[in-house]
Amino acid sequence: MKVSERAQRIEPFYVMEVAKAAQALAAGAADSGKPMIFLNIGEPDFTAPPLVQEAAAKAIRDGLTQYTPATGLPELRERISQWYLQRFGVAVPASRIVVTAGASAALQLACLALIDPGDEVLMPDPSYPCNRHFVSAAGGNAVLIPTTAAERFQLSADKVAAAWNQKTRGVLLASPSNPTGTSISLSEMKRIHEVVQGLGGISIIDEIYLGLSHEAEFGQTALALGDDIISINSFSKYFSMTGWRLGWLVVPEALVSVIERLAQNLFICPSTIAQHAAMACFEAESLAEYERRRAEFKARRDYFIPALNALGLSVPVMPDGAFYAWANCEAACDKLGVQGSWDLAFALMNRAHVAVTPGRDFGHADTGHFIRLSTANSMAQLQEAVSRLTMLLA
Ligand SMILES: Cc1ncc(COP(=O)(O)O)c(C=O)c1O
Repeated sequence: MKVSERAQRIEPFYVMEVAKAAQALAAGAADSGKPMIFLNIGEPDFTAPPLVQEAAAKAIRDGLTQYTPATGLPELRERISQWYLQRFGVAVPASRIVVTAGASAALQLACLALIDPGDEVLMPDPSYPCNRHFVSAAGGNAVLIPTTAAERFQLSADKVAAAWNQKTRGVLLASPSNPTGTSISLSEMKRIHEVVQGLGGISIIDEIYLGLSHEAEFGQTALALGDDIISINSFSKYFSMTGWRLGWLVVPEALVSVIERLAQNLFICPSTIAQHAAMACFEAESLAEYERRRAEFKARRDYFIPALNALGLSVPVMPDGAFYAWANCEAACDKLGVQGSWDLAFALMNRAHVAVTPGRDFGHADTGHFIRLSTANSMAQLQEAVSRLTMLLA
């Protein structure tokens, strides 16, 4: 059967492939006294808090399971709007918020609404792989620009200006980023946005980890910079609801009806049950729990990053958000006599029963020298992982 060229251009999501291999090995390791420790995971190790679970059960009991408007339940859009005001001090009218089936659907809608075949979109290398594939799926081309640790692995206004050409349509930046956990400061974001605006382009900012920011310097939404920013967000990470498939995007008023038309046709609506549940995320009790979890992620980071550095898995930039560590693994590769991060990931999985993600997914420039480790695991598991890695690498 002939597969479309569009589908052929989408590379495998290697994170998932490695996760499959880790699961298979874990079955064998279960009785070894050293069960697999999963540090390859890109989702919180917490589930939705009690009020959210109860709200979902109640929606089912009450039969609130029919389609909602394509843009989402008006009350939920209103609550998200209030959250922006309370948490970030930014007024975002509910009318500009469109609820979606995760950030993934939000990204798909944004790309389909704004990108034409042949358009180029600038992104940093490394960055979240699916984002470049959303651009490809819309017929565009993601242009990955290599970044360095000194740049916090993010693009700057100067780099955006230098890379811009006639085909460039805009930027797609994640702040905080997956895989690095590093953000763009609001002042640099402002400069980037001014360059993009000046060139008549679009700024799509993936803020899915914004709720999990650990430093005041970085934890601000780009939406503060103007009504023409397109911000992507989700209930997956800060709100611990990955499998519920719920997210949202904020778009300029003029784009709402375009996104609505696409959403009606492509998705009809996001999950009704998940939307009813998500309203309980914004109750004081749930928000207090989310803040407790954020503090836990920060405590894990503060333990784990120095421990990795001591092991020679050096993390060149302290992550300011999310739950990832982007570690240079050249010394570890030399120590174990393996070539690059892909082989190292399998060596660590086989020999220490510690699963990590090789850099391959996230770009092309220097990703063979990096692995991504996740702190979405308990402090006890992180400590056990460090002790196993110490035995192997010290
Ligand atoms: C940067 C980034 N954007 C988007 C997504 C997709 O998230 P969702 O579960 O909301 O679709 C992820 C998931 O890991 C991510 O890391």
